[in-house]
Amino acid sequence: MDRRSVSPSDRPAKRLKPETDIAVPTIQYRNAVILAPMVRSGSLPTRLTALKHGASLVWSPEIVDKAILHTERNVDSKTGVVSYDGKTKAVFSTHPIEKPYLIYQIGSADPTLAVQAAKTVMQDVSAFDLNCGCPKPFSTHAGMGAALLTNPDLLCSILKALREALPPEYPVTAKIRLLPDQTETLNLVSRILETGVSAITVHCRTRAMRREKALIERLKEIVEFVERTRPEVAVIENGDCLSVEDSLRVKRITAGAHSVMIATAAESNPSCFSKTPLVDVETTLIPSYIRLARYVGNAWANTKFCVSQFQSPSPSHGKVGRKQLKALISSAKSYDDLTEVVGDWNGEEDFAHVTSAIETRTAGDSQTTDDIDVGPTRTPPEPRPNPVPEALKTPLSPVNMKLLTLSSIASGRDSATPTPSRPVKLAA
Ligand SMILES: Cc1cc2nc3c(=O)[nH]c(=O)nc-3n(C[C@H](O)[C@H](O)[C@H](O)COP(=O)(O)O)c2cc1C
Repeated sequence: MDRRSVSPSDRPAKRLKPETDIAVPTIQYRNAVILAPMVRSGSLPTRLTALKHGASLVWSPEIVDKAILHTERNVDSKTGVVSYDGKTKAVFSTHPIEKPYLIYQIGSADPTLAVQAAKTVMQDVSAFDLNCGCPKPFSTHAGMGAALLTNPDLLCSILKALREALPPEYPVTAKIRLLPDQTETLNLVSRILETGVSAITVHCRTRAMRREKALIERLKEIVEFVERTRPEVAVIENGDCLSVEDSLRVKRITAGAHSVMIATAAESNPSCFSKTPLVDVETTLIPSYIRLARYVGNAWANTKFCVSQFQSPSPSHGKVGRKQLKALISSAKSYDDLTEVVGDWNGEEDFAHVTSAIETRTAGDSQTTDDIDVGPTRTPPEPRPNPVPEALKTPLSPVNMKLLTLSSIASGRDSATPTPSRPVKLAA
């Protein structure tokens, strides 16, 4: 057995000596419920919406190292949005309001390029994560993503290069998948722990798995191993968590993963970080999301895609109304085409709601898994009833749907979800 290998049983309770000093994290990786990195779906309006509804931290979508290197950084003087613009489109956009909670995810198979990418955006983000889990060929064929799982030397050299090159206040983390074999997974984790990472996210599926049930129970042993060897490193569970309340079930199964990360459920409803997620997203979330997206200059095609993913229980109106609204949105060619649907708007007020929710957190509020007290079953949280305009309770033709949205949907405000109420812990 290799001197680094770890047997799942009978392991010494010896702490590994890190090859690189660990940074003092400026980000709190413990007791967090986190928005996962999601290409397309994790764009700026979704991250801001998730933060507004209580996400503790937000990951950027994976951005391949080379893609950011030749961008130009522009700041919108009206909105403050920072855009890293490529030749035809923004490669990455952010706003200073999300910076304290924003982790930038790098796709890389090259330590030098990874460091250059990190240095390009470091003034606008708080931490860096290396994607070691993407199984898609566009990532793996270049040796990135899940290909790094079977090339631990390269994986660890990228993490070490980032750790050594970046100031200590920028934590570096890795997001991996399970390997088919548990001992090999522990060996890999053991090596990653030596690179100076502040946290490790484990997507509890193997590279070959797609939508199958996540193997959350396998994380228990990994959590125990990290606790024994490098207790200062946080373990973040990812896979099949539905909501902030469901994160307690996940933590129980893993015997105490420090935090939980949510992807698909947040793609459907970015308010799932709230103890009372929005229902009736057609009236409560979609109009304000579109206004916000327009205000922050999000590309219409991306906004349209994100909205098409939103869904929630709609106790007050049926599938027909929902479908018709989505059809209207999907036929729109630009934000301007929606003036009739969501009213005369520019999104400034919606952005102000986001800002005030996030600023309130900074002043003393944040959602953590400590805030919640739920039973052991996997029951999605009880939907909070939202007032639904009478007009939306009946099936609508596209024409009268359009007319009704002027008075009902246009006034849809995504503001009733209570702001979480616990202090943000800024240091471990
Ligand atoms: C639309 C979409 C895009 C994703 N993009 C990324 C990505 O950029 N980087 C990454 O590490 N994982 C990405 N993932 C994987 C998720 O972060 C997460 O690991 C996976 O969906 C499992 O979490 P879940 O069970 O909560 O969905 C993506 C997933 C989805 C659904």
